[in-house]
Amino acid sequence: MAEGESLKVLGLCGSHKMDKQESVSWYLLQQALEAVSENGVEVDAVHLSSMNIYRCQGCSRCMGGGECPLLSRDGDETLSLVEMIRSSDALIFSFPVYGLHAANATTDFIGGRAKPFLGEELVVSGKENLGKSSLFRGKMGGLIANGGGYGMEMAFVSLWPALFASKAIPVACAGVSTFEYQKVDFIENTPISKKIEDTEWARNISRSVGQRVYDALHSQARYIIEGMMGIRRIKDDDELGIVTDKLGLKWDKSGREEFEKIPVFAREVALKMIAENIGKLGYDLLTKEAIIEGRKRFAPGVKT
Ligand SMILES: Cc1cc2nc3c(=O)[nH]c(=O)nc-3n(C[C@H](O)[C@H](O)[C@H](O)COP(=O)(O)O)c2cc1C
Repeated sequence: MAEGESLKVLGLCGSHKMDKQESVSWYLLQQALEAVSENGVEVDAVHLSSMNIYRCQGCSRCMGGGECPLLSRDGDETLSLVEMIRSSDALIFSFPVYGLHAANATTDFIGGRAKPFLGEELVVSGKENLGKSSLFRGKMGGLIANGGGYGMEMAFVSLWPALFASKAIPVACAGVSTFEYQKVDFIENTPISKKIEDTEWARNISRSVGQRVYDALHSQARYIIEGMMGIRRIKDDDELGIVTDKLGLKWDKSGREEFEKIPVFAREVALKMIAENIGKLGYDLLTKEAIIEGRKRFAPGVKT
């Protein structure tokens, strides 16, 4: 991701507590988002239980490409949530473990009402069919699970694969047991009770998820990961042109032919590295020689 490009990270809290200030998940989410915003990235947070998202009723119209009838139901806020997700580059979920799963508020949307937005448009790149786009396509993901005792690993399993199958890129997950830190009467009114706000580990573990999401958004490796997952590829000359124009470079025919030999998944990262460093090789055109020399020097791991 280029310097100065504006990014947004959305936090989604899956606690069922209606007062988010009483929720451990909400607190942990704020810590993760703080680590992101300290790096100058815009953040926003949503408390899913406070949103009016009617639960999927299984009519399956969306499975056949039809409109979800609940979207026109009075007060349904699904489209607002979709818009918040769509305008974000990464998502951090923070949720409690309920019955060894992520609490329903966390998974309800992706397992139900999100369905019509998971196969929005066919992405065709040249002759390649990259499949349907998705609301979650290419979004970095961070997950924080907290439970009184056990089941954090199961909670990840109830969310992570669904995100991955929806073309998101989960890059960090942290699970913590919070037995004596739970914000519930039967703990808070006893001598074993401790305050989550007073712990360094809770802050640090949550911040590390935020930090990893931030790093992943800015990593060169993102181009490779996205390529491997079939999420993003250089689609056509126009898109190539954007990368090279930005750097004030021009192709020549031999360079273009040489570039085509680079495996599809690695093209973008190879081009970016070469293009950013090409001046150091003394070229001002992306010729065949410049590409070969550039790959040797600046993208040696990218093999043909
Ligand atoms: C219905 C219910 C089921 C729960 N199931 C589990 C569980 O399986 N494992 C666990 O470790 N904690 C379980 N808990 C405890 C919560 O995960 C814990 O209190 C958590 O800190 C709540 O997070 P919150 O404050 O963000 O809502 C459960 C709590 C409730 C209300």
